[in-house]
Amino acid sequence: MHFETFSAGGCRSYVVGCEASCAAVLIDPELSLVDHYRGHLLQKGLTLRYVVDTHTHADHFSASRQLGKLTGAPVVMHRLSAAPYPDLRLDDGDMLIAGGLKLTALHTPGHTRDSMCLVMADRVFTGDTLLIGGTGRSDLPTGDPHDLYESLFEKLLKLPGETLVYPAHDYKGRGHSTIAEEIAANPRLQKTERADFVAMMQALDLAAPTHLTEALRTNMSGGKTVAQLLAEAASGVPFMSLAELNSRLGDNSRDLVVIDLREKDAFESGHITGARHLPRGQLELRVNTELPDPTVRIVTCCEFGKISTLAAATLRELGFTRATALDGGMTGWREAGYALEPKA
Ligand SMILES: [Fe+2]
Repeated sequence: MHFETFSAGGCRSYVVGCEASCAAVLIDPELSLVDHYRGHLLQKGLTLRYVVDTHTHADHFSASRQLGKLTGAPVVMHRLSAAPYPDLRLDDGDMLIAGGLKLTALHTPGHTRDSMCLVMADRVFTGDTLLIGGTGRSDLPTGDPHDLYESLFEKLLKLPGETLVYPAHDYKGRGHSTIAEEIAANPRLQKTERADFVAMMQALDLAAPTHLTEALRTNMSGGKTVAQLLAEAASGVPFMSLAELNSRLGDNSRDLVVIDLREKDAFESGHITGARHLPRGQLELRVNTELPDPTVRIVTCCEFGKISTLAAATLRELGFTRATALDGGMTGWREAGYALEPKA
């Protein structure tokens, strides 16, 4: 069996592969690693048969939908997942078969209502239900400490003691442990009485994870993250460097229109010589009067270079096929010491 662990900021994801059949299953993929997974599968000659999320993640961005689209592999989640995009929804006890791999779903609500662990012959992928030396929290949306208690003590911990534990998070670089080791040493599992366990979980008072709202929004709906939206826009837009634009201003700039997308105050406090002011909020409404010639070469600029990327993508969609965005934005322009109008 082929097995590989991927880490991104404490999030763990796993590729399990059957070498005889070249089938692979990817568990809890993270958005920033999409190219890593694809490169790895390609290098190992594996075909992705299933992409599984053990639950609706609240603390990072799942790549399951994107990988499903890119590879054609079905996205698998528990049937109680609120996300509309899983192709296959599992019940407790359902088994996935990919070549010689067999993974059985164990519904373990508590961290979230849709949490499940995936049990193989010698190992279990525990998602956020059981971590090495810890458990998932139960205070996020759809979490419940009573459910977590039952999932742990009445289900997961009843697996054979030698079963290897592979969680969806580990912040200390430990690869895995076993069910027996967790029962013996995991501080949270020492509270074996339901009331004690629930009281401990309720007293944790943890800070909300970064990106909670955006992670839940995108993981539950399949919508895009802001970073994805920007990356998609950027992939369809060429950029112009600060130095390139500076060298093209002046006499030979007739065929070049600089569009400053910032608000009025920012524009008036200092803009690139000759730049036209067209705030982002009015771009589509005023584009026909401001830019009557669709063949003109356009450089969009904003403060940091993000809004200008989105605007250049919009302009290209509208048929301005020579729209580019200024790399580095006005912040970079000022830092480089290039001329401003009115002069500072
Ligand atoms: Fe989680």
